[in-house]
Amino acid sequence: MINYIKEFIIFSIYKLNSFRTLFFSKVSPENEKCLKGLYDNGIFHLPSQIEPTKVTELKSCIDDLLENQSQNVNIWNDPEGADSRIYGANQLNTKFKELIPFNFIKNIGELYLQTSLEEYFILAAKISYKEGNIGSGGGWHRDSAHSHQFKSIMYLSDVNEKSGPFQYIPKSHKTFFKIKLPFNLSKTRFSVEEINSLNESILECTAKAGDIILTDTKGLHRGKPLDSGFRYALTVYFFTNKKQKKNFETLLQKKN
Ligand SMILES: [Fe+2]
Repeated sequence: MINYIKEFIIFSIYKLNSFRTLFFSKVSPENEKCLKGLYDNGIFHLPSQIEPTKVTELKSCIDDLLENQSQNVNIWNDPEGADSRIYGANQLNTKFKELIPFNFIKNIGELYLQTSLEEYFILAAKISYKEGNIGSGGGWHRDSAHSHQFKSIMYLSDVNEKSGPFQYIPKSHKTFFKIKLPFNLSKTRFSVEEINSLNESILECTAKAGDIILTDTKGLHRGKPLDSGFRYALTVYFFTNKKQKKNFETLLQKKN
């Protein structure tokens, strides 16, 4: 209930121009665009956020970690053998944080959620086409049914409609959207049939390497199953407290 009240207050303030000026007075025009996208739709696409040389460097950092097992890397693989994930890749290589606009992203997240986001980790992932793959994230879901979650996804390879784009149902992060769904309010996983039965438009985030997608993963989303090719991505997970991050303890790297 507290989360719903908080959402109502923050979203309402954002909508009211005069109050918005007071609460978001230090927001730059660029940040304002991102916040508007997040509040209105739960998602915002920022093109060309880092240079191609940095993209290449980060991609080869992922390949090195995935291929060089001697580094004792804690790698999570899906049962289909399509998705390989390094949770907390920033613990193994500082470039994952240094080569992305981390402070800019964090600032947007803090403005959006109106709270401090000191706890985070970076997920470095590569997903490739394999017969029967279900895409990144294991199908349609919301990360939380009750509280807003802020994530940033940077593609490190060009992503087309066949190579596993992030898919999102705009506005599904809002409580009124959730209430109108014919599902239990706490439900977090959904079948393709359930999603299709909603008849909602699905945003497919095809984008270039170096683009960033900012999103509220309280909304309905998935990585689309791949028909071909591969997708490299860096996802920054932000948390409002240590306890939330602790849920990922077994997946994260052992040493800091
Ligand atoms: Fe998710």
